[in-house]
Amino acid sequence: MKTVIKGGTVVTSTEQMSADVLIDGEKVVALAAPGSHDWEAGSDKVIDASGKLVIPGGIDVHTHMELPFGGTNASDSFETGSRAAAWGGTTTIVDFAVQVKGESAMDGFEAWMQKADGNCAIDYGFHMITGDINEQTLKEMDMLVDEGVTSFKMFMAYPGVFYSTDGEIVLAMQKAAENGSTIMMHAENGIAIDVLVQQALARGETDPIYHGITRPSILEGEATHRAIRLAELTGAPLYIVHLSAAEALAEVTMARDEGMNVFAETCPQYLFLALADLGNGFEGAKYVCSPPLRPRDDGHQEFLWQGLATNDLQIVSTDHCPFCFNDHPILGTQKKLGEGDFSKIPNGMPGVEPRMELIYQGAVGEGRLNVNRWVEICSTTPAKMFGLYPQKGTIAIGSDADIVVFDPGTPRTISADSHHMNVDYSAYEGREVPGSVDTVLSRGRVIIENDAYHGAPGDGQYLRRGTSQYLI
Ligand code: URP
Ligand code: ZN
Ligand code: ZN
Repeated sequence: MKTVIKGGTVVTSTEQMSADVLIDGEKVVALAAPGSHDWEAGSDKVIDASGKLVIPGGIDVHTHMELPFGGTNASDSFETGSRAAAWGGTTTIVDFAVQVKGESAMDGFEAWMQKADGNCAIDYGFHMITGDINEQTLKEMDMLVDEGVTSFKMFMAYPGVFYSTDGEIVLAMQKAAENGSTIMMHAENGIAIDVLVQQALARGETDPIYHGITRPSILEGEATHRAIRLAELTGAPLYIVHLSAAEALAEVTMARDEGMNVFAETCPQYLFLALADLGNGFEGAKYVCSPPLRPRDDGHQEFLWQGLATNDLQIVSTDHCPFCFNDHPILGTQKKLGEGDFSKIPNGMPGVEPRMELIYQGAVGEGRLNVNRWVEICSTTPAKMFGLYPQKGTIAIGSDADIVVFDPGTPRTISADSHHMNVDYSAYEGREVPGSVDTVLSRGRVIIENDAYHGAPGDGQYLRRGTSQYLI
């Protein structure tokens, strides 16, 4: 099957050029000046991209499909969540397999492989959440790297759930330094937070807003500092996930200035939403995630945008972890598990679908970053950071034809009425974004076109990832 995308502006992290793109089977095989080659005659499909941007498919390296968490399961399955990702111009996800206390990490990996197998609309890989560090897990980290799971998420938050002690973190970091993998860190001081949470509940402060108030940014900054110094001690590459706070970014910036392999992502919720969204009574439960949304007046958001401009932040992922607000016929009670006690609200927000359009708005639409940087933070660097480049993350000869035709001139209004995620609200309800996803190809197959989905569950393949290609 040969496909030509003609007349568009091809944008990669480094180039912006008028070019036709020739796809043969699953791969990009040629790029040429518009109309300079008569590719249309011998092709099976022609996509007219005139006036549109032709970009590498988005890569979201932080999703939690079907995650068992907070007494329920994230409401998007691999089938519904990966399809919603495709609708939003994301053609690869890296999700988190889970090892819980007392269980083997390899068993956790196999379980998540089974959940995803035959269900994904787009290609997918896994990180591993290591919830129990012991002799066996440390050996399994080597086995997982051989399976293409080259990054391990640890938690300084959630005592009693996924929490690791500093000693366990040191052990895992020593192993990562040895086998070339990356430690991903949820950097919040969960022990201190739990004290503040118990004090707030004892005062009768039970509304969702107190979720944000009891997780102050200083405790994200402190944990980020500690994670960085443990990485310095052990020599492990460190990637701070879902960074939300100026204090944490300052620590990352300092470490990077010291020449360390320290990296960080932020997420759209921290760039667009704020602590005040947690107000409005229990409605605020829709915005409960950890780290929490930060007070708008404290300047975190512009600091994060600046970090994206200076590459102190390298990636925007979503931390997609949706829970329904109203009771769901199959999933039951989700956000409302925390009525009367904010600490019982399942932590997480939906976001896999609108990421590319939202970041286009905040970056290009509002003049903060150029179009190359938009592609870089949403696709190219994620591929390099997690060992997928140049198969993914660019439009080049030999790369997978994961391509999005993006229309910068057709706005869209984000709404739960029109989104495809399996969740009953949008955190961005009513927001108008200036550009929108038009056509999506996954390994050469058109899966979104003319406002219709043309793919099928199982189209997506498991990606055996290499180690990070972003290290100094
Ligand atoms: O609130 C969040 N972030 N939920 C998902 C789990 C995690 O910590 O990433
Ligand atoms: Zn986390
Ligand atoms: Zn997460």
